[in-house]
Amino acid sequence: MSFKGRDILSSAELSKQDFLDIMKVTEKMETLVKEEKVSNLLSDKLVGVLFLEPSTRTRLSFEAAVQRLGAKAITVASAASSSAAKGESLADTAKTVDGYVDLIVVRQPEKGGAKVMADAAEAPVINGGDGAGQHPTQALLDLYTILKEKGTLENLKIAMVGDLKNGRTVHSLSYTMAPFSPKEYIYCAPDELQMPADIVGDMEKQSVPITKTNDINVALQADIVYMTRIQRERFENPADYERLKGSFVLDRTLVESGNKDMTIMHPLPRVDEISTDVDDLPNAAYFRQAQNGMYLRMALLAMLTGRAEA
Ligand code: NCD
Repeated sequence: MSFKGRDILSSAELSKQDFLDIMKVTEKMETLVKEEKVSNLLSDKLVGVLFLEPSTRTRLSFEAAVQRLGAKAITVASAASSSAAKGESLADTAKTVDGYVDLIVVRQPEKGGAKVMADAAEAPVINGGDGAGQHPTQALLDLYTILKEKGTLENLKIAMVGDLKNGRTVHSLSYTMAPFSPKEYIYCAPDELQMPADIVGDMEKQSVPITKTNDINVALQADIVYMTRIQRERFENPADYERLKGSFVLDRTLVESGNKDMTIMHPLPRVDEISTDVDDLPNAAYFRQAQNGMYLRMALLAMLTGRAEA
């Protein structure tokens, strides 16, 4: 199926074939950057980049992707600098920006907010994170990273560790890996930050074997250990955050006690959940993962504008 004009709102809406097609184009984009640095594939395109929540990697890798493909971006880098601060609705913002650009990338705090904007705009909308909802482009770059690090997507044991309740990256990753017959998902979190029941239910419907634990040693037996940050900004009560922060800290000794072939991933930013003494282990893939984000986002921009296909 062609991607031209499609929105990317949630990983749950994409098929296994979609995932594989996106991986193929991402690989082409990595080759393009390595061999030619830049291209003029999208030189007639303008992209609206609206970030109403903090971001480093997602925004900068989208902007880098825009520039590598010869397109141009107009950017809102914070809610405070946009009319969101005056109380403008997401739908009105989307209708306005739609009149200026060919494609919209948006991050904002409301679960489902990217869909509201997609419904209001003609241009394709890419969800760059909707509050504690979904973060599909992160999960797609995670998929690409797993493929490169492991050589396969099939039959892997994947541990997700940390704030599974509020962490949108692990919500999206669950849906993205599910079609690849995972051997097991190990959801490792304090009880009150466990994976939401609707997502666990969806995984069970897809026959993914699930283990829930709060013991990181169980997680360290996996092929992929996906660490996440306790999402401070999603806590209503700061005392709860203080109590739960630092629940899991992966250090070199712990890594060495687990599966020696584990690939350690993290969407970043990290706070203290991975010690810096892990960084130079060959298992630590998180900075390679961040770089893959640019190739993946180049692929999406080119596919949604109809300029590339698998
Ligand atoms: C993540 C996010 O924004 O959800 N960061 C990212 O996009 N790489 C993870 C996080 O903020 O913890």
